[in-house]
Amino acid sequence: MYSDKVMDHFQNPRNVGEIENASGVGTVGNAKCGDIMRIYLDIDENQVIQDVKFKTFGCGAAVATSSMATELVKGKTIDEALQVTNKAVMEALDGLPPVKVHCSLLAEEAIHAALWDYAEKHGIKIEGLEKPKSDIHEGEEEEGEEY
Ligand code: FES
Repeated sequence: MYSDKVMDHFQNPRNVGEIENASGVGTVGNAKCGDIMRIYLDIDENQVIQDVKFKTFGCGAAVATSSMATELVKGKTIDEALQVTNKAVMEALDGLPPVKVHCSLLAEEAIHAALWDYAEKHGIKIEGLEKPKSDIHEGEEEEGEEY
């Protein structure tokens, strides 16, 4: 049911933890399943993500997608990080079962929330970043058939 990559990232999640004095912190939940995700970003003066950590109270698919998402945004600029969609994360994990696609939205939205927090703290506007939802269940995307 799960790809080897999903199992690997679930069993050995990368970048678990928290960052003290993080540049931006984002927390989102899904009221439907009750899962919660928090992402910490350390962003330098060139707007490059130097470090990223996550903590979750979530299912295995949420752990695996967050682990992969943190790997994909680490070392990237803010603009590049915005391109890391939940679909890109799922592709990097060789797919997720359709009923688990929504879990991958937690990581994407938590990264956006952390970037939003960073932008607010620095009084800047990040082009293409919309105000994140704190509950991804509202307006959840249609679950695609392809995964
Ligand atoms: Fe809630 Fe996976 S079931 S995030």
